[in-house]
Amino acid sequence: MGQLSAKNVSVAFAGLKALSSVTLDITPGHISGLIGPNGAGKTTLVNVLTGFQMPTEGAVELDGHSLDRLKPHQVRRRGIARTFQGGRLFRDLAVIDNLEVTGVGLGMSRRSAVAEAAAMLDWIGISALGDRIAGTLPYTDERRVAIGRALMGQPAYILLDEPAAGMSSHEAGDLSALIRRIARERGCGVLLIEHNVGLVLGLCDHIVVLDSGAVIEEGTPAAIRDSEKVRHAYMGTAVDTDLPVLEALQ
Ligand SMILES: Nc1ncnc2c1ncn2[C@@H]1O[C@H](COP(=O)(O)OP(=O)(O)OP(=O)(O)O)[C@@H](O)[C@H]1O
Ligand SMILES: [Mg+2]
Repeated sequence: MGQLSAKNVSVAFAGLKALSSVTLDITPGHISGLIGPNGAGKTTLVNVLTGFQMPTEGAVELDGHSLDRLKPHQVRRRGIARTFQGGRLFRDLAVIDNLEVTGVGLGMSRRSAVAEAAAMLDWIGISALGDRIAGTLPYTDERRVAIGRALMGQPAYILLDEPAAGMSSHEAGDLSALIRRIARERGCGVLLIEHNVGLVLGLCDHIVVLDSGAVIEEGTPAAIRDSEKVRHAYMGTAVDTDLPVLEALQ
């Protein structure tokens, strides 16, 4: 079976080790979780997996082949899509056009990009938003549009960088159902980065925990919930945003 893997990936920024020999696998149809306190290196790892950041050491492999030196758009065309912390839609374009432009960028004809965009909005359940200007959407809708855009071109993998940030538990529940459908119905391999640890524990098959750039724990949700190391990592940095994490780990 195919797999997307970070193999012993390290990234250094002018003396700061953002990642230290991190290994992580993402499998089609499975949801993997990546958690850790602020500054742990989660986004940096997504950047490496999607060609936005060159690793200082180590490699990214897709089905055993190195993706070294590929640019982000080349990685995307190989079926590895992502969302960004904080949306990053084309704010002045209508929702449907956000998806269409991405489809055209992936090499589709305008006609098939429009058709896939409409089908995608329908699949997500947001067809009614198609004509809205993206910059006017509430962020819960913005996130779903960003996910729809990432799913254009039927990627084999999708990496979600804090898709539930700022959501109520009800909104996070809806998002959780969508993420599950992405894995089950589309067969996508999902990497879910979230500070909402309850969401991660409920959704993921396998969870990797980063702290200060290093993997400090990995395993099933039950193993992560029971891990003293994980609790300790979050306690060390406990700020307001991390308090729900500690509750989820109780
Ligand atoms: N381009 C960069 N140049 C220098 N330092 C960076 C750069 N990008 C990230 N860093 C640093 O690398 C470390 C890891 O950052 P990263 O954004 O990957 O963390 P994160 O786990 O995604 O955090 P958060 O939960 O706040 O999103 C941090 O110390 C950050 O300040
Ligand atoms: Mg981040």
